[in-house]
Amino acid sequence: MTTLESPGRTVVGEGIERVDAPLKVTGGAHYPNDFSYPGMVHAALVGSTIAAGRIRSIDASDAQSAPGVLTVITHLTAPQLPRGPMTQLGSSPPAPMQDDRILHYGQHIAIVVADSAEQARHAASLVRVEYEPTEALLDVEDPNAEILDNPWGLDSERGDVSAGFAEADVVVEGRYTTPDNTNNPLGLMSTIASWHGDSVTVHDSTQWPHNVRTTLAAVFGVPESGIRVLAPFVGGGFGAGLRVWSHVILTALAAREVRHPVKLVLTRPQMFTSVGHRPNSVQQIRIGATRAGNLVAIEHHGISSVAMEDDDFEPVSSCSAVSYACPNVVTRDRQARLNIPCPGSMRAPAEGQGNFALESAIDEAAHAIGMDPLELRLRNYAEDHPLLGLPWSSKALRDCYTQGAERFGWSRRTPDIGSMRDGRWLVGYGMAGASYPFYQAPCQARASLRRDGSAYVRSAATDIGTGTYTVMTQFAAELLGLEISRVRFDLGDSDMPYAPQAGGSGLTSALANAIHTACDNLVHELLDIVRDDDKSPLRGASADDVTVGEGRLHRISAPDQGEPYTDILARHGLEEVSADGRSTPPDGQQIGMAPSGAFGAKFVEIRIDPGLGLLRVRRVVSAIDGGRILNEKTATSQIVGGTVGGISQAMFEATETDEGTGRIANPTFGDYLMPVNADVPDMEVIFCGTPDRATKAGTKGVGEIGLVGVAAAIGNAIHHATGRRLRSLPFTIDQLL
Ligand code: MOS
Repeated sequence: MTTLESPGRTVVGEGIERVDAPLKVTGGAHYPNDFSYPGMVHAALVGSTIAAGRIRSIDASDAQSAPGVLTVITHLTAPQLPRGPMTQLGSSPPAPMQDDRILHYGQHIAIVVADSAEQARHAASLVRVEYEPTEALLDVEDPNAEILDNPWGLDSERGDVSAGFAEADVVVEGRYTTPDNTNNPLGLMSTIASWHGDSVTVHDSTQWPHNVRTTLAAVFGVPESGIRVLAPFVGGGFGAGLRVWSHVILTALAAREVRHPVKLVLTRPQMFTSVGHRPNSVQQIRIGATRAGNLVAIEHHGISSVAMEDDDFEPVSSCSAVSYACPNVVTRDRQARLNIPCPGSMRAPAEGQGNFALESAIDEAAHAIGMDPLELRLRNYAEDHPLLGLPWSSKALRDCYTQGAERFGWSRRTPDIGSMRDGRWLVGYGMAGASYPFYQAPCQARASLRRDGSAYVRSAATDIGTGTYTVMTQFAAELLGLEISRVRFDLGDSDMPYAPQAGGSGLTSALANAIHTACDNLVHELLDIVRDDDKSPLRGASADDVTVGEGRLHRISAPDQGEPYTDILARHGLEEVSADGRSTPPDGQQIGMAPSGAFGAKFVEIRIDPGLGLLRVRRVVSAIDGGRILNEKTATSQIVGGTVGGISQAMFEATETDEGTGRIANPTFGDYLMPVNADVPDMEVIFCGTPDRATKAGTKGVGEIGLVGVAAAIGNAIHHATGRRLRSLPFTIDQLL
């Protein structure tokens, strides 16, 4: 029926402009904190200034009597609230303000509501707290920390690693460290809650409106049907909006108490302790290879930090289990429970850290046996999923390697260290392979055709800046044979059909497959309508013999036998015809367990001034297999953005925690380093994948694969230029002098 391969239709794949661009540049796009309600009042949070211990006393009397203040809620006055439910991404963060215990710096210990945001913030500064501190656990290697062993059950072992190392001609080994990073979407995360009885309307900076709805229903004991969560635009996410955080619960709580709509906008420093972060890691990796270039053993152990009473999915070593056709591999992950703010998925969680160790060590092994690092990767290419022994749903990594190398000019690389120069600059070429496990979550969508010939398609997803509005508009236009301008795709409202999180690189596929089914079902509906219609050239047509184009349905066997949608609706007196679609993940697919993934090869040229320790990234070529690409332009933007994130991870970002107090020492955009334009070089992106066979839409994901591998490629280029193997992110000047 509506196959995407039909000739003459080129809407999908084309790099059209974002459909929401005019709204964004004219201020017509309303972000959560842009909304306002009559009688709306404002909230501010008080955060703990110790990392561990308990509150001895909290005195809110001055705050309570400050100008404009309606209420101050603390653990002494907050009602008992249950913790939010388990989600497919893990547990909800602990319920806020339930007792006097302090588990991390910045923990919300009071919420103040006042007539204005300024009054609320001022009053928050008047809340007096006395603490009984205890010693905080802050170091991921603290021997006193509780260790969670194999927390996700993803540890792996195959072959005989000791025998593998015994067989190896060279063994390389290193200890790699990655710091805490903070997601830092530009838009300060905001919540507005407005109650009417047991019903509440919530505007929230979420990547998953249905999760907010389900969580608020469970926490406040009200029916989901009365909760509406709106997020038509959010100011970025990077994973910070995947969970329903304490500030969202507290805003809803405060609004229920004061019987006014309440708005809360986190401050930038609060963003560093309230909405997750990439947890730091220490990784030990050992690789054995033969002189002929066979990887014979890989051992990768990782430990990362996790908050008290929380979980976070961060299997940093598991990339080593699936990346190469090496017969003997052990991977093992642990987490250390610390007095830190809850971490969360941030921009290629787990792979972002683990790939840095693995792909640096592969480079080191290649150097040790005197083989080109690209050649070593190709020789040990995993044709099948190495753990499951099954073919990948699709894998074009070999093409990524070869086409990326060609585009980059890898053959111009002279292998000797320091052998490439440009005046006083040492030049380094480095590369890395990358993968990101792909999975698709269940999703629903609804598609309608209207009497005026337009289509309306919707699902409760979010567009965190990735292009979801645009790509799904294109996709629906193609499936219904309509001009883009005749199709509206809408999202960001929990009253729409269920959509999963915009995260894990899975939303495009989940949505596309749901929309595909909805549009197919819509065509069936139309055929049902004309089944016995004497006036229709489509009377009695079977779905297999019908396709769409130019706003009409027609027979494939006789293209002139067809009619416009508008004629069908008008003749039958219908204003609108609608159909639902749902997509389910391919069999057995869940995180880390399926032979599905996005792949990439990253090639980087850097320059180093050896006298000054200056590092400059000059060029990056990313060759990506993300399956079918629905919009070349927005997909390229995703990879470019991910690459900037990778450069940032490699050279700039580190959330610094004060050792004594657990205080975040650099919680502003002035102190937390990120690349500016001058740090970001020419970037080229090429897509090498083909439609994935696992689903109708043929898509995989391009959300996270852009970041993975960039840090290792930069580190490998540094080694090529200088002979130094840097194993600690970010690569700061002191490491280069
Ligand atoms: Mo992404 S870290 O899954 O929002």
